[in-house]
Amino acid sequence: MSANRRIVLAARPKGSLTLDCFRLERAPLPQAQDGQVLLRTLWLSLDPYMRGRMNDAPSYAAPTAIGEVMTAGAVCRVIEPRNSQHQSGDLVVATSGWQEYAVCGAEDIQRLPAGMTRPSLALGVLGMPGFTAFMGLLEIGKPQRGETVVVAAATGAVGSVVGQIAKLKGCRAVGIAGGAEKCAWAVEGLGLDACIDHRAPQFNELLAAACPKGIDVYFESVGGSIFTAVLPLLNARARIPLCGLISQYNQSARPEDADSLRAFMRAVLVKRISMRGFIIFDDYAGYWPKFLEEMQGWVRNGWIKYREDIVDGLENAPQAFLGLLEGRNFGKLLVRVADDGAAA
Ligand SMILES: NC(=O)c1ccc[n+]([C@@H]2O[C@H](COP(=O)([O-])OP(=O)(O)OC[C@H]3O[C@@H](n4cnc5c(N)ncnc54)[C@H](OP(=O)(O)O)[C@@H]3O)[C@@H](O)[C@H]2O)c1
Repeated sequence: MSANRRIVLAARPKGSLTLDCFRLERAPLPQAQDGQVLLRTLWLSLDPYMRGRMNDAPSYAAPTAIGEVMTAGAVCRVIEPRNSQHQSGDLVVATSGWQEYAVCGAEDIQRLPAGMTRPSLALGVLGMPGFTAFMGLLEIGKPQRGETVVVAAATGAVGSVVGQIAKLKGCRAVGIAGGAEKCAWAVEGLGLDACIDHRAPQFNELLAAACPKGIDVYFESVGGSIFTAVLPLLNARARIPLCGLISQYNQSARPEDADSLRAFMRAVLVKRISMRGFIIFDDYAGYWPKFLEEMQGWVRNGWIKYREDIVDGLENAPQAFLGLLEGRNFGKLLVRVADDGAAA
């Protein structure tokens, strides 16, 4: 325990992300000051928002600076606490970044929810992605029994929870996912009514056939050609929680976007569609205890299932992150940085 390994932003991506945007560095072990805590990273969460932080563009959060450690949430073990709130050996969720050891202040650390036997769930179904699904669907989507809910990226960290909550609320749940294996798991593993492969040549027709009564709620995480297929199927007074636009994160604007925008604006008007973007902790932080209580119960009862896609070793995080932006992950993407026994 004499040195740290960390991954920093080496260069800003131009369009599609490449491995040379990252650099693995060795550095001295960081030193905790009074009030701070030295942490050992066990599980690192890889999430799409990190791609946005790599751009030097105005957004809801400041960009990562060149040479700075990549931002991330992680499950960590407290190694050296220099405050009274934490004890050596505690498991916590911290905004500690892509590194093996980190020093954080108390404001960047949350205790792991009580009774969590699998700590990595605090980064997935019982963490930020599960919370995003819960609030986006229930507060903005407001699904009613008998309605049709369509969810994009249906087997991912957020989407897999959205589809299952839609079923719990008595809706017809239709997923959209990349490939036959993901679609089969959405139906057989998660219990969705149907799941359509967005790479299928007949995607638009298959989606329409899976939604014979149109779409009342569309949980948007992808954008692009998937939204183009959804738009004509939206019912009057449809609701769209706008959670993310992952198909655009590696792209710059294209000329055809202007035509799509015109068609979209007309549909919003004539069908009186409501669409609301949200940033989970900025907009709904106060709902966290309610979410946690309800979701822990659903997971304990087996009503909400989860799937983790685990990559071993900090050095493999960049490659795994590239894969996330191309749909190569299958479930919540995590990097196991260290296995200290209690983290399995
Ligand atoms: N608003 C918020 O506060 C908030 C919070 C968390 C997440 N999000 C957003 O929620 C979305 C899902 O995040 P997640 O963490 O749950 O990720 P995820 O779904 O576990 O993984 C990303 C998935 O997106 C799909 N995808 C990736 N690139 C694509 C492309 N070019 N075209 C079509 N699909 C593509 C792939 O699924 P398929 O192979 O099935 O296509 C991939 O597996 C993202 O847009 C993210 O930014 C927003």
